[in-house]
Amino acid sequence: MEEKRKTIGEYDTVWLEEERHALAIIDQTRLPGETEILYLTEQKDIWNAIYLLQVRGAPAIGVAAGIAVYLAARQIHTGDYEEFYREFRKASDYLNSSRPTAVNLSWALKRQERVVKAMRGRPVPEIVEALHREALKIREEDIQVCRAIGENGLTLVKPGDGLLTHCNAGKLAAVRYGTATAPMYLGHERGYHFRIFADETRPLLQGARLTACELQEAGMDVTLICDNMSAAVMRSGRVNAVFVGCDRVAANGDTANKIGTSMAALAAKRYGIPFYVCAPTSTIDMDTPSGKEICIEERKPEEITDMWYEKPMAPKGVKVCNPAFDVTDSDLITAFVTEYGVVRPPYPEAFRELFLKKELKKSQSY
Ligand code: MRU
Repeated sequence: MEEKRKTIGEYDTVWLEEERHALAIIDQTRLPGETEILYLTEQKDIWNAIYLLQVRGAPAIGVAAGIAVYLAARQIHTGDYEEFYREFRKASDYLNSSRPTAVNLSWALKRQERVVKAMRGRPVPEIVEALHREALKIREEDIQVCRAIGENGLTLVKPGDGLLTHCNAGKLAAVRYGTATAPMYLGHERGYHFRIFADETRPLLQGARLTACELQEAGMDVTLICDNMSAAVMRSGRVNAVFVGCDRVAANGDTANKIGTSMAALAAKRYGIPFYVCAPTSTIDMDTPSGKEICIEERKPEEITDMWYEKPMAPKGVKVCNPAFDVTDSDLITAFVTEYGVVRPPYPEAFRELFLKKELKKSQSY
């Protein structure tokens, strides 16, 4: 079911529509032309929405998955815990198969599974209610986490700076603020007048369709460039820092993000420009030792050869390579901006300290 409306700023990117028992999302495949809200109740439709990038960006996918698996649990009709758990796992595994690279998807599903396991033997309606609470908590935390990343990122820049970003790690990739754009939003609120360069981001144009759209709508000074222009713009001295998001950060700091990120990192290193990865701790995967172990999603050739064009722009049958993400080696990353602060190399040790800090903060808030 769809609803036509006005601007992106009027909505969060993802939420639970309680009365309809639906996952509500801004349909990102319709942007920048139309802001349409989808209300999804069927697991198959939610799976498709993630696969087709109607909802995308690691944190937004995680929030959507947390809500989706709660909605799936509501539809399990049994009073028996073991049967409930089996069906819950089926729904969770199904959602988890929609996209492989962003760790936030499995992170949110595992978090919901822990709720189910902790309530083993309790009445099923109580477990479903606990999943409901956890889904709302995951969403609320995303907003707080992104805001904290914004505050921490803002300590790395100054008013008037030129900032370059790749893909969309913006509000549309989270619930509000985004990660890489969080310092930009907060700086904008405080009159920093950044000059932002948005890489177009071939082949799916998240930079052009989404980042340029949301930053322009928010009233920021944003300049769209093709991906192959970013080195030239950096060399010209117009960029003071690069801020990008991430889909999975390995324990050694190697980082998977949208294809083209590593090219921007290499150019930034060459021109002495700091390269910052904005990373909620939910995207740091200590179970993946290095970039070599990160599974990179391969997408359809048509995204390169046909999509966006009136007629095919490549010879029929030509071989196409279409990895959706690349891995930026950790030595190209100046620092990670997390909700608990700015993390600098050596990363394995710094991440271990970061997670200790997180545990400590969590225990203090109970
Ligand atoms: O394929 P997408 O559009 O989901 O890829 C998104 C990105 O690569 C983002 O940079 C990443 O998910 C971080 S979003 C805060």
